[in-house]
Amino acid sequence: MNTVELIRKKREGGSLGENELRYLITGYIRDEIPDYQMSAFLMACYFKGMNPEETLSFTRLMLESGETVDLSEISGIKVDKHSTGGVGDKVSLILAPMAAACGVPVPMISGRGLGHTGGTLDKLESIPGFRTNLTIPEYKHIIRDTGAVMIGQTKEIAPADKKMYALRDVTATVECIPLIAGSIMSKKLAEGIDALVLDVKTGRGAFMRTLDQSIQLAKTLVDIGTGFGKETIGFITNMNQPLGSAVGNWLEVAESVHCLRGELGSNDSSSDLMEVTYTLSGAMLFLGKKAKSIEDGIEKCRKSISDGSAYKKLLDLVQAQGGNIEAIKNLESYPLSEFSIEIKSSEQGFIGNIDPFEIGMAGILLGAGRQKIDDVIDPKAGIVLKKKTGDAVNAGDPLAIFYTDREEVISEVRKRISDAFKIQPVQPQRQPMILKIVDKDGVRK
Ligand code: URA
Repeated sequence: MNTVELIRKKREGGSLGENELRYLITGYIRDEIPDYQMSAFLMACYFKGMNPEETLSFTRLMLESGETVDLSEISGIKVDKHSTGGVGDKVSLILAPMAAACGVPVPMISGRGLGHTGGTLDKLESIPGFRTNLTIPEYKHIIRDTGAVMIGQTKEIAPADKKMYALRDVTATVECIPLIAGSIMSKKLAEGIDALVLDVKTGRGAFMRTLDQSIQLAKTLVDIGTGFGKETIGFITNMNQPLGSAVGNWLEVAESVHCLRGELGSNDSSSDLMEVTYTLSGAMLFLGKKAKSIEDGIEKCRKSISDGSAYKKLLDLVQAQGGNIEAIKNLESYPLSEFSIEIKSSEQGFIGNIDPFEIGMAGILLGAGRQKIDDVIDPKAGIVLKKKTGDAVNAGDPLAIFYTDREEVISEVRKRISDAFKIQPVQPQRQPMILKIVDKDGVRK
């Protein structure tokens, strides 16, 4: 087989057979196919897509590039959640300890920042000492003892996704349904789960910007999960403004800790974040047979915040994975960025919209994400929103504060963030956060 011919076949809109896909994937993880040829192939997929059989073969081959962890010795129904990626999306950091505190074992393999979106792994690694590259025995040991474990793709688990994910991040080849499906489902099917909840984001801060595209992605993911014998529910959730108030790795950990400690009310800037988190974790409890319904699961999750058990579970998880729990207990002890810049409103009115894509791109410029494959993340860098969509604002009120050590990006970031805020004379209607539910029976409200 010849790599150039396969790239050309896809470029011309042909569909590749299982052996052809295997040749590309195994050649790439063995370093026999270089990044520049894989980039060309990924771009051809971006433009020409894959048919359903190809998408299924691609996912299976991505999964078979590594091991599937056997968690059958761990009692309980193991349930995970995965998001298709958003801005300020720190749901996993809150949901995993919450679901585990309610008795659902949560084995979670996450990714790094991708495109304009953040990644759970980069967020976890902003906690001093936190290890995400565990061996399989360590992974099993921690889920058995703690009830949750959060790691990244490794040499053993989903290695093809580890390598291809990093390449997609810097070659503008993320927004493609079969590539997203192969990436997400290879990780999820490898981790030893029994059931899966998917958060398929839709809107300007998501990889799928329209509801139709998001439904198509959700159906593809649910079909793959169901086809592999895992009960799978997808929620289409709103990503038309950053979720919660913080964007940037440590800043998002800090916001999550405040949410887990129950320090935030229902009317503050984290209420959209908690609405999505409770819905998804409620569904995890339902699938894990720890709740009679999603609503019952939501109630139990709320209780795990008010009784402190979810926060305690986070501390246990951080400690089990080598992290410094003093940094979590004492968030103020974390190092500060050299520059912190406040952006103020120049007008009076209501926040009509905060463009999450622009905020995500500003975060990358500040150092919170990568522009090249080997860029090093600055865990302190990022943005804290002081106003959210629908809030009233007066001239001179703070809209956001950003943090960075990079003096050279300040003026560009200031403009990007200011431009991301749209101020209008009338208060906009509140948009629903949960738009649709997709499962094996179809799409419902
Ligand atoms: N999350 C993933 O794990 N992979 C993608 O391609 C997009 C979101």
